[in-house]
Amino acid sequence: MPKKITREFIEGLPKAELHLHLEGTLEPELKLKLAQKNGIDIGQTTIEDVRKSYDYDSLASFLAVYYPGMNVLQTEDDFYQLALEYLQKAKLNGVRHVEMFFDPQAHLTRGIAFETFIKGYHRACVDAAAFNVDAHLIMCFLRDMPAKSANEVLEMAKPYRDMILGVGLDSDEHHNPPLKFARPYSDAADQGYYTTMHADIDQVDSIEHIKQALEIIEVDRLDHGTNIVENQDLVDWVNQKQLGLTSCPLSNGFVTNDMKGKEIVELMEQGVKVSINSDDPAYFGGYIADNYEALAEKYDLTAEQLVTFAKNSFETSWISDFQKETYLKEIDEFVEKF
Ligand code: HPA
Ligand code: ZN
Repeated sequence: MPKKITREFIEGLPKAELHLHLEGTLEPELKLKLAQKNGIDIGQTTIEDVRKSYDYDSLASFLAVYYPGMNVLQTEDDFYQLALEYLQKAKLNGVRHVEMFFDPQAHLTRGIAFETFIKGYHRACVDAAAFNVDAHLIMCFLRDMPAKSANEVLEMAKPYRDMILGVGLDSDEHHNPPLKFARPYSDAADQGYYTTMHADIDQVDSIEHIKQALEIIEVDRLDHGTNIVENQDLVDWVNQKQLGLTSCPLSNGFVTNDMKGKEIVELMEQGVKVSINSDDPAYFGGYIADNYEALAEKYDLTAEQLVTFAKNSFETSWISDFQKETYLKEIDEFVEKF
């Protein structure tokens, strides 16, 4: 195990990425290119101006930039290119397995057919196998839309069931508790989907929402969710179930002005299976290796601690026990050689 953590160590460490929004990988360059190709006015005409528009200090102000930006995605090839460019970057970041979110309602509501985005995203997943990245899709419901709309999405996804690994829940959490989605989550579980949902950082009702997600909806994983650190019963629950929490330090820094590294490390030290992820890397200043690096630098982490995060990511991913063992062995071999 190296004493000093280097970029080479972080990038080489085999990792799974479990909290990544495909629409959040839209870099200013691709956004402008697609806007010009599709004749869409995004309000900016230079990469510099697009970059400047990526300016927010809360979840709400981020979402206000994020959703309109998706307008540039129009054709199956646009969705393919977005996903493939992310997967190529993930490869350079040492990602071996990825379970990626996408937001059907953000595209359906602007007239894009389900078939258009699912086929583009799925084709990118298939092509990523050629460079040894195992890529899967998680379909997110928008929590600020009605539960009925989530059920309609579930229905639309039926012909593509084998292209989608799980369901998630994102967008604005305020006044949109997990229980609002009890029906679509129960139907999704009946259809064999894995389930996860966002429990965003420092929400008005964080603890109540997390209780609903864990104890009533019974999700298989929790996205963000670091507020459980305030409640020992929830920490014990998560530990007993070996449930994964997907943390995103750079994203936390944007929406709350604090990477929440203290909480992340405290949870890890209590045995919680926390992983490190990039959330919306084009919007939050970095990909997964940048998240590991920022956390390690700011909180003076050891190589052992980074290895634990990487192992947690595979242990809480939705793969077979055999695949988990294979990846964990890869980590051990990497560490031994390093
Ligand atoms: N929280 C809620 N909605 C989101 C997020 C997030 O972290 N990223 C993209 N949509
Ligand atoms: Zn997220």
